[in-house]
Amino acid sequence: MPLKKAMVDWDSLGFNFLETRSMYSANCNVGEDWENGSLIPFGNIELSPAAVVLNYGQGVFEGTKAFQTCDERIVLFRIDQNARRLAWSTERLCIPKVKPDFFINAVFETVKDNLDFVPPYGKGSMYIRPIVWGVSPALGVGPAIDYRFMIYVSPVGPYFKGNLKFLNLKIETNFHRAASKGIGNAKAIGNYSASLFPLAKAKKEGFDEVIYLDSVSEDRIEEIGSANLFVYHDGILKTPKVSGSILKGVTRDSVCKISSDILGMKVEETDVFLKDLFEAKEVFCTGTAVQITPVGRISYKNKVYKYYDGNLGPITKKIKETLTKIQRGEMNDPFGWLSPVSV
Ligand SMILES: Cc1ncc(COP(=O)(O)O)c(C=O)c1O
Repeated sequence: MPLKKAMVDWDSLGFNFLETRSMYSANCNVGEDWENGSLIPFGNIELSPAAVVLNYGQGVFEGTKAFQTCDERIVLFRIDQNARRLAWSTERLCIPKVKPDFFINAVFETVKDNLDFVPPYGKGSMYIRPIVWGVSPALGVGPAIDYRFMIYVSPVGPYFKGNLKFLNLKIETNFHRAASKGIGNAKAIGNYSASLFPLAKAKKEGFDEVIYLDSVSEDRIEEIGSANLFVYHDGILKTPKVSGSILKGVTRDSVCKISSDILGMKVEETDVFLKDLFEAKEVFCTGTAVQITPVGRISYKNKVYKYYDGNLGPITKKIKETLTKIQRGEMNDPFGWLSPVSV
């Protein structure tokens, strides 16, 4: 029997927020463990204007997805990896550590209660957004004494508009996303506020996103504001090695494993210099929201580098197809990445 679905226009989904039935909520005081969360109807929340998150940015989040597979299962993709990253992000921001078991259980509960909002097979996915923040009021800078954890979900389609979008990127020479020993390797809300101004400026100039350089020597690429980067050249697939300023993407790790273990390619997590990028045959970015999106053009100072000949590059195509097939249950799941939520 086909799965029951909510009243949503599945064919026109973009990456916009659509309200669903319920959200998960839990509270925790400093020195305690996260426990006893529950589902509540989706709705607004109350917050003091003096809350630490609003004044000092003590907040972190996650992003993961549920898919409907070709055999009508609803599955989560590598949820253990998001759990590990949230544990790290909370620790880094002095928030009581959200432990993996609590997190995974909360994600399952939220998705189960909103199962009919998971798009039908091939029509998109359910984006799952866990968030954690410091609630208590404070005037002086310091961590909050009480915290809230919530999860909301939304059915989504493509992140970038257009059927097969080739990104037009600009290498950012005036701003850094994150400092080398900063919070770039945590999914901290402040990283995203730092990226708003360069992104808005780039969009005005006709670009889709910006590529950030390392903040020390400015000769190595790091990532774009919402995704990791890969370059392919001379039989080697390279991605910047993770550091204090680069987010350890779940999709990035999946692409490395698919490319080396399934496709038999040479993969290097290493320094990726501007020269590597300019010489590359194919460039693409990876993330839960963007999936695998090819890069068509990159501008650096007054020069434009083109990677687009009208078709998706063969390496990008193979990797993208393999990842999509695993997520949709169209091929076996050799790494055990899928966790069934339903049926
Ligand atoms: C800054 C940044 N880099 C990389 C990624 C990709 O990470 P993941 O593949 O886990 O979604 C994201 C977000 O999703 C991000 O916000």
